[in-house]
Amino acid sequence: MKILIAFYSRTGTCRKLAEAMRSQLSCDMEEIVDLKDRKGAIGFFVSCKDAALKHATEIKPPQKQPSDYDLVILGTPVWTGTISCAMRAYLTQFKDMFKSVAFFCTTRDSGIQSAFDNMQVLCGKAPIGTLGLKQKEVVKNLFSEKLSAFIKDIESK
Ligand SMILES: Cc1cc2nc3c(=O)[nH]c(=O)nc-3n(C[C@H](O)[C@H](O)[C@H](O)COP(=O)(O)O)c2cc1C
Repeated sequence: MKILIAFYSRTGTCRKLAEAMRSQLSCDMEEIVDLKDRKGAIGFFVSCKDAALKHATEIKPPQKQPSDYDLVILGTPVWTGTISCAMRAYLTQFKDMFKSVAFFCTTRDSGIQSAFDNMQVLCGKAPIGTLGLKQKEVVKNLFSEKLSAFIKDIESK
C-alpha cells in the first residue's frame, strides 16, 4: 500500500508525530506550509480568529500528488475546536484526489472529535483510522502504544 502523510504543524507537535509515523510506515511525507505569518502572540490570536471563522489560508503548492497514493494520512493541530486553516485549505483543494484517508491530530486538551468530524466533512470520506493525542503525550514521548494501535488498525484495512 502506497501511503502519504500530509500534515500541518505550527509549533512542531504534529511534525514530531508525523515523523514517528513515517519511520514506522516507511512512506512519503508532505509538510503543508501556510504562507501567512502565524508566529508569536499576534500569530496565535490571528490564527484563533481565522480558525473560528473557518477561513482557509494560502498554502505553498504541495510537492506530492495525493492521487498517487492508496492512503493519505492527514494530520493537524486542533485550533479553536476545529482544524488549522492550512489543513482546511489542503482538504478543500485535494478532496477529490483521496482514495482513502486516515486522520491524526494533536491538542492541548480538547476538540479531537470535532476536528475529525470537520475533516471527514471536508474530504467527504470516513477515515479508516484516527489518532488523537494531547500535546503533552507527544512532547513527553508517551504515544508509542497509541501510535502502534493506529498503524495496526490502518494496516489491517
Ligand atoms: C490558534 C490555536 C488555537 C488552538 N485551539 C485549541 C483548542 O481549541 N483546544 C485545545 O485543546 N488546544 C488548542 N490549541 C493548542 C494546539 O491544538 C496544540 O498546542 C497542538 O498540539 C499544537 O500542534 P503543533 O505544535 O503541531 O502546531 C490551539 C493552538 C493554536 C495555535
